[in-house]
Amino acid sequence: MAPQDAANARGQFSSRFGFITAATGSAVGLGNIWGFPTQTASHGGGAFVLVYLILAFLLAYPALMAELIIGRHTRHNMVAALPQLCNRPTLQVFGRATGLYGVLTACLILGFYAIVAGWLMAQIPAAIADISGQAVAKQWFSQSSLARDGLFCALFSALTAAIVARGVKDGIERWSTRLMPALIVLMLGLAATVLTLPGAMEGLRLYLIPDFTLITNPGLLGSAMGQAFFSLSLGVGTMLIYGSYVSNSDNLPLTGAYVALVDTGIAFLAGLLIIPAMFVAQQRGIRIYKADDTLIAGPDLILQTLPDLFNSLGVVGSIIGLVFFVLLTIAALTSSISMLEVPVSFALEQFKLSRRRATCWVAATIFTFSLLILFNFDALFGAVVKISTQYSQPLLGVLLCLFAGWALHRNQLLREISAGFPAAEQSLFWKIWPGYIRFVCPLLIIAMFVQNLSG
Ligand code: TRP
Repeated sequence: MAPQDAANARGQFSSRFGFITAATGSAVGLGNIWGFPTQTASHGGGAFVLVYLILAFLLAYPALMAELIIGRHTRHNMVAALPQLCNRPTLQVFGRATGLYGVLTACLILGFYAIVAGWLMAQIPAAIADISGQAVAKQWFSQSSLARDGLFCALFSALTAAIVARGVKDGIERWSTRLMPALIVLMLGLAATVLTLPGAMEGLRLYLIPDFTLITNPGLLGSAMGQAFFSLSLGVGTMLIYGSYVSNSDNLPLTGAYVALVDTGIAFLAGLLIIPAMFVAQQRGIRIYKADDTLIAGPDLILQTLPDLFNSLGVVGSIIGLVFFVLLTIAALTSSISMLEVPVSFALEQFKLSRRRATCWVAATIFTFSLLILFNFDALFGAVVKISTQYSQPLLGVLLCLFAGWALHRNQLLREISAGFPAAEQSLFWKIWPGYIRFVCPLLIIAMFVQNLSG
């Protein structure tokens, strides 16, 4: 292999901007546009928003930095990276096992994520059929069936694989920089439209004014933490592998802060769109509360309440619906490529396969797993979501903080952070983060994890 090829095989983002768009593309996904607003709806509005914002910066940003720093320092996938940080053989084995656990979790998450993305993608032809007056086709595309769900999951998985197979710069970075600006424009346009409709202000009030009595509700803290970890793509080595493609001249703490800010900003914006939209729907006679007086949340909100709202607004509504589901599909795609990159980069480095071949094999395996979930939906779907996001992600998050804080020496850390940030040693980041990541962050995550389990 010529030296040039060797460099290409590892891959690198072409610029700081390229990295920021790819990493925010990973972070901004269904977690922001679907997860955050629906969690907010089911936890009483503003109180959840407030707690989420605090946890995103108290827990998720420091953990994000741990992954980015390990990634850039080792320039490997998670399975190879963690053992490289340790001297003792037993710790190396533990590092490898942790890495494998991360890769497996990434595969589980992609397994259910592609199904959900497929549901949303199917709403695009449904809206087009609606606008062009094809009632039968609209019915088929908008109603869940094994055939429709399997087909759209396959389409979405194939799109994801096609991008990842093209590599870091020509696939992941290029498509993220194309899709992310489109996403932001569509989102701002939609939020502006919805906020002018009657009823929107009531939703805005619920969203923005926290009811502090709700903050102590069991489940709120744990859900907010899980949501923050999911939204920033933490724990499974996604940010670690993206970090390994970042140039040494980038200022990591600053770049990481941008990613966390954009991710949180877009989640907030999505809430600004969806919660008011629910109250617009209520004004038009659509039910938005469940029998127990809590707001409808989860799939029913996105796949029933909102489409009902779009239908009630006539052709304009159908167009809004179309834009909304295109937006969701774009968001899902820039995230799914980052999930697939985790097992693909592992297969690539471990088994010395070509990127194309590794992508085909891994994508086909995960798609088979998605089919397995679809065929046993009631038994598997909820369980896979729970195991991967509620248990594995926080646990892996703790381990990654510990690896960054304890296995990397202070001077290694400082050298890594100083590359691209010469004044690092005098910075607030350097004064706080290393100690924080060793003790405070893991303990806080564990405390909330336990509270969540017992609650
Ligand atoms: N963060 C993305 C979202 O909000 C999803 C995502 C991408 C993810 N990569 C991940 C979640 C890795 C967990 C782990 O939708």
